[in-house]
Amino acid sequence: MLTIGEVAKRSGVSVPTLRFYEEKQLIQSIRTNGNQRRYLRGVLRRVAIIKVAQKVGISLAEIQEGFKVLPKDHNPTKADWEQLSKAWQIKLDERITLLMQMKEQMQWCIGCGCLSLEDCPLRNPNDVMAQKKRL
Ligand code: FES
Repeated sequence: MLTIGEVAKRSGVSVPTLRFYEEKQLIQSIRTNGNQRRYLRGVLRRVAIIKVAQKVGISLAEIQEGFKVLPKDHNPTKADWEQLSKAWQIKLDERITLLMQMKEQMQWCIGCGCLSLEDCPLRNPNDVMAQKKRL
């Protein structure tokens, strides 16, 4: 069992951040009789996954969602990590595709400046105005 200070030192994450993760149910502790937090060593693996996921742009909400499928009675295994990272890789691919589309649309805007709801693809990315006109 590790204290919150030991987890902070070993994971490189601050104590307030660990408390925040626990509040968000990303990690769990056990309370001592004196109401102090104690963590199983596996928490280090969970924190490592959180940090890697955040580094590649996965939000805490998405991490929470991913952790929901993990069994609570054991540390995330290599297979668990593979499952999570594959799912997050798909999300990253989707974001890259969206960003590439937006980058391409921005070509229209450079030097234009109209910011028109009808004509600007960035103001009206899903052509909402056209859909409204059809209704
Ligand atoms: S600013 Fe004119 S098309 Fe976007």
